[in-house]
Amino acid sequence: MNIISIANQKGGCGKTTVAINLSSCLALKNKRTLLIDMDPQGHSSLGLAVPEEQIEMSIYDVLCAREDKPLTLDKITWQISKNFDLAPSTVELAGFEQQFAGVPGRELKLSQALQAVKDKYDYCIIDCPPSVGLLTFNALRASNGVIIPVETGYFSLHGLEKQLETLELLEQQCDQKLIIKILPNLYDVRTRLGREMLAEMRKRYSDRMFKTHVNFNIKLKESASLGQAINEYDSSSVGFKDFSHLADEVIVIFEPSISKTPDLSAEIDELAERAAKLLEESTKVLGSEPESYKQAPAEKKLEMIYGVTQTPEGVKFLAKFPEAKSVAIAGDFNNWSPAETLLKRVEGFDGDWELLLPLEKGRHQYRYVVDGVWQHDPYNNYVESNPFGELNSVVEVE
Ligand SMILES: Nc1ncnc2c1ncn2[C@@H]1O[C@H](COP(=O)(O)OP(=O)(O)OP(=O)(O)O)[C@@H](O)[C@H]1O
Ligand SMILES: [Mg+2]
Repeated sequence: MNIISIANQKGGCGKTTVAINLSSCLALKNKRTLLIDMDPQGHSSLGLAVPEEQIEMSIYDVLCAREDKPLTLDKITWQISKNFDLAPSTVELAGFEQQFAGVPGRELKLSQALQAVKDKYDYCIIDCPPSVGLLTFNALRASNGVIIPVETGYFSLHGLEKQLETLELLEQQCDQKLIIKILPNLYDVRTRLGREMLAEMRKRYSDRMFKTHVNFNIKLKESASLGQAINEYDSSSVGFKDFSHLADEVIVIFEPSISKTPDLSAEIDELAERAAKLLEESTKVLGSEPESYKQAPAEKKLEMIYGVTQTPEGVKFLAKFPEAKSVAIAGDFNNWSPAETLLKRVEGFDGDWELLLPLEKGRHQYRYVVDGVWQHDPYNNYVESNPFGELNSVVEVE
């Protein structure tokens, strides 16, 4: 079970919105998911229409149960939808910190409680309160990952710096390894400030950032006030699309072995042959086998055939988009107009798209347009922020 805290001491940056909608999208993707409301404000419970007056037992009772008389999490959970359970909280939880002041092991109460359900769920998402007290500490000590939602507005970078420092300190002092990922939220592409903030965040925290960002979307606000997750309220909304992408990215990050193998295993021999051919062609241009390729393990070599390769006839663009109906490329070499430069399906390789483009020497920026949606090349790590706060892929032709 992956346990992921949604934490940021700054209030109102979207922790609860992320906790609810990421949980429901993971559940939609068949991941058995438990959402724990660790905030005495009880907003996750409220946002899923679980009325406080009907909560007989909450996460507070689990944390406070005596060791000789434990109360297991399954006694307090509410089923929200298929694969999606909630452990609610009430205002009582506010007393936890004071009640356990000075008690040894008080920061491990949640971690211990989760032991009993570790085979029952694939993901546990924890909605933290906007503070760095004992409740948040319990959540972090139980977790192997942390998502920090950050509003793309003034002052948020300062708060983010402090949040990262706190987490690094915890990792050092508790000898605990955390996957820490920053999620830009409340992004408004129309404002210059929003675009600049996102570009700055990507520059400053590159690897720490999710590729996904969550746009400001009024449907997210409305769905919370009606006690529904976004997929139930409006599955055609931008908000739903953003959280669906986020869930995909979370699965790739937290289950790397599952998400990489299935595509490759069946075609491994043919892929190896194609990789060798492409390498041979690129060697004609570049003179020798690139060092990075020589040193890569076999399965990595196969992955490396996707992306851009320089051949004597031009630059070969190759990408895997299994669901796509059309893939085009737009760049500074075609005035950013994708209509003329469509990629073709590679026969016999489901989901593979390719295009050979004769490009002039020098540095070129480009983006893919997949079913009308612009995105950077997921198989090319060489990227740069553009003025819209998004990423352009870069290829250098020698
Ligand atoms: N992407 C978004 N688009 C539109 N509204 C949003 C978005 N994210 C959050 N909101 C709204 O912003 C407000 C604050 O969000 P939320 O309650 O999720 O923040 P929080 O970090 O959990 O707050 P707290 O620190 O009080 O727990 C809510 O009204 C929520 O509906
Ligand atoms: Mg909240």
